[in-house]
Amino acid sequence: MVSETTLRPRQLILPMFVAEGLDAPRPIASMPGVVQHTRDTLRKAAVEAVNAGVGGIMLFGVPEKRDAQGSGAVDENGILNVALRDLRSELGDSTVLMADTCLDEFTDHGHCGVLDADGVVDNDATLRLYAEMGVAQAEAGAHVLGPSGMMDGQVGVIRRALDEVGHSETAILAYSIKYASAFYGPFREAVDSQLKGDRKTYQQDLGNAREAMRELELDLAEGADMVMVKPALSYLDIIKAAADISPVPVAAYNISGEYAMVEAAAANGWIERERTVLEVLTSIRRAGADLILTYWAADAATWLD
Ligand code: PBG
Repeated sequence: MVSETTLRPRQLILPMFVAEGLDAPRPIASMPGVVQHTRDTLRKAAVEAVNAGVGGIMLFGVPEKRDAQGSGAVDENGILNVALRDLRSELGDSTVLMADTCLDEFTDHGHCGVLDADGVVDNDATLRLYAEMGVAQAEAGAHVLGPSGMMDGQVGVIRRALDEVGHSETAILAYSIKYASAFYGPFREAVDSQLKGDRKTYQQDLGNAREAMRELELDLAEGADMVMVKPALSYLDIIKAAADISPVPVAAYNISGEYAMVEAAAANGWIERERTVLEVLTSIRRAGADLILTYWAADAATWLD
């Protein structure tokens, strides 16, 4: 009667991976239960998730070939864009289809942007590619774009590019607050990341909270329709602070390393899987997240039903 926090399937978004050139889904060892899908198995798994009641799907593409510019990201025949087209034609408007708008899966150096002559990520050159990538994804049928590369100005350039070509209805879920976290480890396996080194020149310093609010305000001023905090569990205070001031919905990304920890402990019989997962998700909601991106979205939706 007095429970303060709801956890509903529609508040959960399922991140999914689709890889080019696979004959069968490929398991991701560090994320038990999560796979790189073929185009075919992606369609089926997406339909199942939507039938289970999830609020949306966030799609990541894993290309066969990579280059310095990440050109597979803007190519309409690139794996992410063809899979978006597949899902939009299969699912129509029955779910919210979201696309990861970032170059890291497509670059041969694994960075979220293109590099300058010194090997440092070139913010403004990257923005031009994000604008092109965003338009390609909107044309392929994405309802929502998720710029996740932490380039300054990314929301504004993508918004303007979409509006110029008539995609004013496509929304932007801005990865506004994204820390340079060790918990992304398993994701790097999930997308066959080529990254050596780290993303500390563009992701945030773990200890900084004020900076997070500044990032949030910049993205709001540039036209973000929703904002995100990432990771979730080590940053519940940041989720709370964002939720307190944000005039738009706040999402939190319960990321790969957070998933892997629970799955590993549960597989050893050290914790109860279902109870732990629901506790994790409830805590993120209690902190103030309206939406949660989680690899447990489909499972949790089934349990909550
Ligand atoms: C960047 C991106 C990353 C994740 C989502 N988008 C990787 C990174 O920033 O290193 C991580 C998600 C997860 O760990 O579950 N395209």
